[in-house]
Amino acid sequence: MKITVVGAGAVGASCAEYIAIKDFASEVVLLDIKEGYAEGKAMDLMQTASLNGFDTKITGTTNDYSKTANSDICVITSGIPRKPGMTREELIGINAGIVKTVSASLIEHSPNTIMIVVSNPMDTMTYLVHKTTSLPKNRIIGMGGALDSARFKYRLAEALGAPISDVDGMVIGGHSDKGMVPLTRLATRNSVPVSKFISEERLNQVKEDTKVGGATLTKLLGTSAWYAPGAAVSGLVQAIACDLKKMYPCSTLLEGEYGLNDLCIGVPVILGRNGIEEIVEIELSQAEKDHMKESAEGVSKTNDLLDV
Ligand code: LAC
Repeated sequence: MKITVVGAGAVGASCAEYIAIKDFASEVVLLDIKEGYAEGKAMDLMQTASLNGFDTKITGTTNDYSKTANSDICVITSGIPRKPGMTREELIGINAGIVKTVSASLIEHSPNTIMIVVSNPMDTMTYLVHKTTSLPKNRIIGMGGALDSARFKYRLAEALGAPISDVDGMVIGGHSDKGMVPLTRLATRNSVPVSKFISEERLNQVKEDTKVGGATLTKLLGTSAWYAPGAAVSGLVQAIACDLKKMYPCSTLLEGEYGLNDLCIGVPVILGRNGIEEIVEIELSQAEKDHMKESAEGVSKTNDLLDV
């Protein structure tokens, strides 16, 4: 199993590190445009192999896409990250050009690849890959919901005073501060609805804290986060590589599901060796439907800024 990660910045390198630590892939190629950077990150990571106990071979390359040939899965993290106070949508101008070029170069060398898009604004960048490549829809996946759900579970555990392993929950919708739809109604602590343990007011606070999860970190770090994004991507990669049939909310092209069309947005999907093997349609409350519709309108508005 060969995996390419484009962008050896913090998110790309974390992603490569978590993939390697989980030790399910034979090879990870890191690619970056900055001379020597991916090679350096790859060498540093390889020097953790005997310490962390993995056999995955990590190599780096400066923009030589021939080194990525025949990758089973390609991850695009390249582009500029958010600075404090910026929205993900504000990155569209620069990142659209980058994602378009990177995806075309990857497909030229790996026509059968499954592509995971991480660059922001992620839902729109995922849609851009649909519009500008001929990859089938099951092989284009946007990473957002897996990360947002991890942040949701972190906030839920905090509010409940419970270990995270007790908590389950999911965030659907767009990967943006306004667009996320944390499904508090369905969140549980060991199968018991969380509303049994915390007030509606506290639960609303959890929801709001989840939606600004990325922005909170950007403010603290001066740039966008990388550990949780990297771990979330590695989860999707593992589900595909190991054919786990695992359910994650991911950004996928909708064609009528959830009453939505012609956009990529986060909904639960089953991930296996064929990428997105199924879109799971769950029953939403009226409030959740309204929030999802509003979220889709926001994503479509950003998509309209694309030159496709
Ligand atoms: C975040 C970026 C990866 O939410 O979108 O941290």
